[in-house]
Amino acid sequence: MAAQVQPLTKPPRTSQTAWSALASHYKTVSKLHLRQLFADDPERGERLAVEAVGVYLDYSKNRVTDETMRLLLQLAEESGLRARIDAMFHGEKINITEKRAVLHVALRAPQGTSIVVDGKNVVPEVHAVLDRMADFSNRVRSGEWKGHTGKRIRNVINVGIGGSDLGPVMAYEALKHYSDRAITFRFISNIDGTDFAEAVRDLVPSETLFIISSKTFTTLETMTNAHTAREWSLAGLGGDEKSVAKHFVAVSTNASEVAKFGIDTANMFEFWDWVGGRYSMDSAIGLSTMVAIGPEKFHAMLNGFHQMDEHFRTAPFQQNLPVLMGLLAIWYNDFFGSQTVAVLPYEQYLKRFPAYLQQLTMESNGKHVTLAGKKVKHDTSPIYWGEPGTNGQHSFYQLIHQGTRLIPCDFIAFSKPLNPLGHHHDMLIANVCAQTEALAFGKTPAQVEAEGTPKWLIPHRVFEGNRPSNTILADKLTPETLGKLVALYEHSVFTQGTIWNIDSFDQWGVELGKVLAQRIIPELESETEPQLAHDSSTNNLIRYYRKSKQS
Ligand code: F6P
Repeated sequence: MAAQVQPLTKPPRTSQTAWSALASHYKTVSKLHLRQLFADDPERGERLAVEAVGVYLDYSKNRVTDETMRLLLQLAEESGLRARIDAMFHGEKINITEKRAVLHVALRAPQGTSIVVDGKNVVPEVHAVLDRMADFSNRVRSGEWKGHTGKRIRNVINVGIGGSDLGPVMAYEALKHYSDRAITFRFISNIDGTDFAEAVRDLVPSETLFIISSKTFTTLETMTNAHTAREWSLAGLGGDEKSVAKHFVAVSTNASEVAKFGIDTANMFEFWDWVGGRYSMDSAIGLSTMVAIGPEKFHAMLNGFHQMDEHFRTAPFQQNLPVLMGLLAIWYNDFFGSQTVAVLPYEQYLKRFPAYLQQLTMESNGKHVTLAGKKVKHDTSPIYWGEPGTNGQHSFYQLIHQGTRLIPCDFIAFSKPLNPLGHHHDMLIANVCAQTEALAFGKTPAQVEAEGTPKWLIPHRVFEGNRPSNTILADKLTPETLGKLVALYEHSVFTQGTIWNIDSFDQWGVELGKVLAQRIIPELESETEPQLAHDSSTNNLIRYYRKSKQS
C-alpha cells in the first residue's frame, strides 16, 4: 500500500501561512483588470520579465501584483522548495512510494561531476552509456552498421509507449531540421494494430532497424508490438533468427527480459530505476534522437538541459524561471479555479510538444494524496493541452478569448526561423504578440461602439480581456534550446508538486486499468463462452464484442 510507506525524506514544511494570505489576496486581485495594472505601471512589461540561460519569460500579462508574487514566493519558501531541490540533486529517495531517487538531472551532468546514489557516483555510468550510444549512432548513420543481408539501414523504428515514446517522437519532430534525412524515422506505440501496419507498410525488413524502448520491458503494448515487429522482420529475412541481432536493439533497465525476448544484451542500452519514464528522453530512451541528429547535437541538447538544471538549482526564486512558472500555475489552478493550461508553441517543429507535456505534467502531478498519504487539500495538476499556433487560432482560441472559462496560456516562440521564407516568420511572431495583447486587454464596449457597430451586435463583439498568458521567447529552436525548454517544464512540475506536497514521480493510477485488461483479454479470446464476473455493463460489452466479431 503506497500510502503506508513513510517518507524517507521529510520536507521542512511549515504551516503555509502564505496559502491563507493568498486566498484573501485573491479576492482583491480577481477584481483587477490587466488594463488597469498596465496603465498604473508603465514599466510593468519590462519589470515582470526574467531572462536566464537564453530563455526570456514575460509574465507581465498575468493577473498578479507585486504582492501576489511576494506571497507566491513566500509559499515556495514555506513549502520547503529549496530543501526539496537540494534533496533531488543529491540523489535522495524523494520518490517515496517506489523508494527511488529522482535523478534525471544526472543524465545531463557533465563528465567529471559527481552525483551519488546508494554510495555510488552515477555520472561515469551515464557517460559510458552515452559513449556506447554515440558509437552505435555513428555506425548506423555512416552505414557501417549493416542489416542481415548486408544492406544499409534506411529506416529506424522506435517501439515504446508513454515516456518511452512521447519523448523520442517529440524530440524527433522538434529536431527534424537537424536530422539525417537519408534515414526514415517512425514511432510505434499504440497496441492498435493499425499503428504497426501503417508504420511498416512501405518499408522493407532488410533495411529496417527496431529500437525496442521500455524501461521495464514488460509493458503490454510495447511487448506486443515488439513481437509483431520480430515476426515481420523474420518473415522478410528468411526466418533466420540470427538476423535479430542486426535488426533489433533494446533500451531498458531490465537485462533479463531483454535477453528473454532474444535481443543480445550487447545490443542493449541501459538506464536506471532513478530515471522516471516521463523524464527519460535524455537517457538511452533518446537513442532514436541521437541516431537522427548525431551524438554532437544530442550532447548539445544535454547541455541545454544542464544549463536549465543549474539555473533551477541556484537562481534566487524571484528570478528562477521554473519556479515562477510553477507558482503561476498554482495561482490559477488553486485560487482562480482554472482547470487547464494551454501550451501554444508558435513553431511547427514543436507540434508534439503539448502531447509530450501532457504525460510530464499530468502523470507527475495527477495525485490525490500527499506524501503522508492524506487527501490533498487543494486541486493538483491542471490539465495541459495545446496545439501549435497559428492553427489553434482558427479552432479553439475562440473559447480562450470569449468563453466563460479562464484558461492561462503559455505562448512559446523563437526570434529566428529555421526555414526563413519571405515574411512568414514576422507574421508568425506578430500573431504571438497580437494574441497575448488581445487576451490581456480585450476590446471594451466603448471601443466596439466607436467602430460603428450596431448596438445589438456590441455584446457579441466585446472581448472582456484579462485573460492571462506567459510568453516564452528564445533565439532559435536548436537541440540546446529544446533541452532548456523541456527542463523548464520538468522543474515547473517539480515546483508545483512540492507545493502540493505530493509524489510527482510515481504513477499508480495507470496500474488498475492494466491489471483489468490482462483479465479481460482471455475473456475476449476464449473459444468457449467465458464465465463473466464483472459488473453488468462490462459483462454486456464483452458479450456484445464477442458476438459481433464473429458475425
Ligand atoms: O503509463 C505508465 C508508464 O509506466 C509510464 O510511466 C511509462 O513511461 C510507460 O508506462 C512505459 O513504460 P515502459 O518504459 O516500462 O515500457
